[in-house]
Amino acid sequence: MATNNLEEIEFTANHYSNLIRDERYNRLTKEHVEYFKSILPKDNVICSLDDSEETKKELLKYNIDWMKKYRGQSQLVLLPTSTDEVSQCLRYCNENNLAVVPQSGNSGLVGGSVPVFDEIIISTKAMNKIIDFDDVSGVLTCNAGCVLADLEAYVEERGFMVPLDMGSKKYCCIGGNVSSNAGGLRYLRYGSLHSNVLGLEVVLANGQVIDNLSKLRKDSTGYDIKQLFIGAEGTLGIITNVAISTPRKPKAVNAVFLSTDSWENVQAIYKTAKEHLQEIISAFEFFDEDAYSLVKQHMQLQVPLKEENKFYVLVETHGSNKQHDNEKLHSFLEAIKTSNVAREGYVSKDDQQTRSFWIIRESVPVACSKNGAVFKYDLSIPIAQIYDVAIYMRKYLKEANVYRPGDETSEVINVAAYGHIGDGNIHINISCKSYSEEIANLIEPEIFYWTRDHNGVISGEHGLGLMKGKYLAISKPGSMIRIMESIKNILDPNYIMNPYKYLPKKRITRLSDIRS
Ligand code: MLT
Ligand code: ZN
Repeated sequence: MATNNLEEIEFTANHYSNLIRDERYNRLTKEHVEYFKSILPKDNVICSLDDSEETKKELLKYNIDWMKKYRGQSQLVLLPTSTDEVSQCLRYCNENNLAVVPQSGNSGLVGGSVPVFDEIIISTKAMNKIIDFDDVSGVLTCNAGCVLADLEAYVEERGFMVPLDMGSKKYCCIGGNVSSNAGGLRYLRYGSLHSNVLGLEVVLANGQVIDNLSKLRKDSTGYDIKQLFIGAEGTLGIITNVAISTPRKPKAVNAVFLSTDSWENVQAIYKTAKEHLQEIISAFEFFDEDAYSLVKQHMQLQVPLKEENKFYVLVETHGSNKQHDNEKLHSFLEAIKTSNVAREGYVSKDDQQTRSFWIIRESVPVACSKNGAVFKYDLSIPIAQIYDVAIYMRKYLKEANVYRPGDETSEVINVAAYGHIGDGNIHINISCKSYSEEIANLIEPEIFYWTRDHNGVISGEHGLGLMKGKYLAISKPGSMIRIMESIKNILDPNYIMNPYKYLPKKRITRLSDIRS
């Protein structure tokens, strides 16, 4: 069983035998720490060089990720309070060859926000102020360390909504969301951060501040440089301020919860939803019976249906007239019942019931992690084949004799599938008792090759981080990787920003690379 004692979690560097510290990076000294203490407020430098048990404990939460899968060995966390302080920290690190990991809410799922070795953690958490909000254009400008739920509350009071919503919104911060190009639950309706982020202020590795905090929707004057930092996962610089477009909060939010017995039916339901709900559809989410079995077991939650089934679907609408949208949802439900693609389904009676539908969907990833360890995938695959990856992985793991449903000694406990059908983005969560390298090597890169062979990419929303950087060549042609490397060379020539991840030197390009 995986441990809950943070101190017992294995160091990433020990767990993954292929990782070697790059000795070009200097090791932290007392002089370095003295410099940071001279530029930052006293409490914003957390350092364990003095061997104090208290600071070592404090550092654990910055060194370990949300899944308790990755553990770095950083001895220093810096919490700058302004862009200027971030700039001074980075300039010094660059001049002194000190590797850096930018960190935000530390709720990432690919090991991107924690160190691999002793990289210095620069957290944006102390930069958490809203700068301004324009209630005509709906543009919100804020510091990178603002928690997503706080931003949501702020704009909601003014009749707007943040275009991004996710289960981790109470912890994640907007800077991390932008850095990892987070997708979320309503991407289908409100689109990606590439379209909603209007401006960014970023500090480069050498301390230079890029002021591109534009609030304009349109700008056709040259390369759109800010897009480089959206999804760069802290490898090109640290995002310090964000300007984001927020839509009006919908007057009416309605939802339907239903179940069906085949993947063909899920697709038919999706087509009918688009036909009947068109401009008001805001989310189309699903989870399967394996995912639901964990929700029942670990979260003690039940779907609001009389019968259990193979697939569960949550459809949500955002519109301006509750009664009108309600009628549309009833006619949608009627249509799918008449065509026999679903037997049971209900329109939510009120906002509370809509919320209770969402709680079930949002509890799926939490339930998947309750067995101790979970290998998480966020594949983007054309909708027609998307569920085949779950069928394939179950068969593959059974044939490898590590997945033996009903056998208590089975290494793999559950293979759950859920996700965002409307966005062609499926999550496969493989629950195990602990993180074994043997299981990891069995699943990866097999699941990624299957995805590529079915015209998909290995990440639709969680990003590359440490977990998937080495597999980048499975999803991107060499010509594109070379452009990515050139950009990295220009913006971070000393490679101090988030090393060992995203664009690591050693990449796997062929199955034989890892199987030989
Ligand atoms: C989700 O869709 O629930 C999120 O991507 C989080 C997750 O999969 O853990
Ligand atoms: Zn997701």
